[in-house]
Amino acid sequence: MDRYVICGGERLSGQVKISGAKNAVLPILAGTLMTKNAVLKNVPNLSDVAYTVEILENLGMNITRENDKMNIINSGIVNTVLPTELCSKMRSSILFMGGMLASAGEVTIPYPGGCSLGNRPIDIHLKAVEKMGVEIAESSNGIYCKVRSLQGTKIKLPFPSVGATENIMLAGVLAKGETTISNCAIEPEIVDLAKFLNSIGAKISGAGTDTIVIKGVNELGGCCHRVIPDRIEAGTFMIAVAGAGGNVKIQDVIPEQLRPVISKLKEADVEVKEDENSVTVCSDGFIANTDIKTMPYPGFPTDMQAQFMGLMCGGLGTGIINETVFENRFMQVPEFIKMGADITIEGRCAVVKGVEKMKGAKVRATDLRAGAGLVITGLRAEGVTEITDIHYIDRGYENFDGKLRGIGADIIRINEQAVQ
Ligand code: UD1
Repeated sequence: MDRYVICGGERLSGQVKISGAKNAVLPILAGTLMTKNAVLKNVPNLSDVAYTVEILENLGMNITRENDKMNIINSGIVNTVLPTELCSKMRSSILFMGGMLASAGEVTIPYPGGCSLGNRPIDIHLKAVEKMGVEIAESSNGIYCKVRSLQGTKIKLPFPSVGATENIMLAGVLAKGETTISNCAIEPEIVDLAKFLNSIGAKISGAGTDTIVIKGVNELGGCCHRVIPDRIEAGTFMIAVAGAGGNVKIQDVIPEQLRPVISKLKEADVEVKEDENSVTVCSDGFIANTDIKTMPYPGFPTDMQAQFMGLMCGGLGTGIINETVFENRFMQVPEFIKMGADITIEGRCAVVKGVEKMKGAKVRATDLRAGAGLVITGLRAEGVTEITDIHYIDRGYENFDGKLRGIGADIIRINEQAVQ
């Protein structure tokens, strides 16, 4: 198992380029189950993408990759049982449900895994596809779903779940008639999935608003699609610069999608300049702590909460973080405390009292974004920080240490096996 070793205190400067969005490419890859062929560009090199590709290959797809370009050929699905081990690594494996039901008419999905962020039920997904004419049987091995007749219908979500919205979109594309999803998620990744599906011949309107309408079609073709940049990776770099201090241009971003992070950083006295495809962050490392409440888009993203908490640990004054999206997303807190943080948790709120100096320590990445939060904190802490379990970070950050070194951070990746 690899680890990061960080010597804190270096200011960051220069430019960094953001990769394609993990949370956009994963549902799009599930959507390729319905194409004959597709070319995807700006595909990030992440372990979650590699696992997803392995699952697709297991189902019979032929996939080749050259740098950030992926060629996908689908000459027919040969298997409808998803591999347990691979699915147990990723929550997003549930996204295969919609694509498989539309293209193969049935699927057995092991219970999805991924980062443990408290109870992560899939009831909204299951109820929706049931309403569309799918029979569901649950067993200890997973969920068996079979299409009786895939019918468009009206579905109102009890919560704007990102994954459930995507699954219904995938299932609705080849369903008979019209599917309407109200109170749906409006995240940019939903808009990108709709753009991809429309470019292979789907008829989806309203993506990016709270009501999506999908007119079922009989057949889909191929396409070439460029995945949107990763707003969470971009936000993570912005926070890293804010904390460590320095001046960095973060390139290939869509500033509009970073609005809540930009406004919170400005509230914290950090200078952020927006251009068409980039943001530049300039900071002296002094942060005025502020309050954060995570919300579905366009609110402050839950996927940026741990990183912002890391920033607040060494800020001035007290700030409160209210996590409204996931019930157990403060697993990073004991690790931050090892680095000297003053944090108390009260239910879904964390009270963060800024301390004068965070100190390097041996810590463990407890999930993907918690891991990123620890890296950011290590960059500005006094002394050396060692982070283990960085396989979580590999799920969502392409060449994280390399990109950070490129802007002046003192971070190395140590391969345990090579050391022994
Ligand atoms: C997606 C993102 C994840 C992000 C999250 C919220 C991907 C691959 N992952 O996850 O990075 O943190 O959106 O922005 O895109 N819920 C239910 N029942 C369901 C489904 C969800 O109760 O059937 C609840 C969840 O437990 C959670 C909330 O709804 O409390 C939000 O979950 P959801 O939007 O579905 O997140 P994911 O799609 O899993």
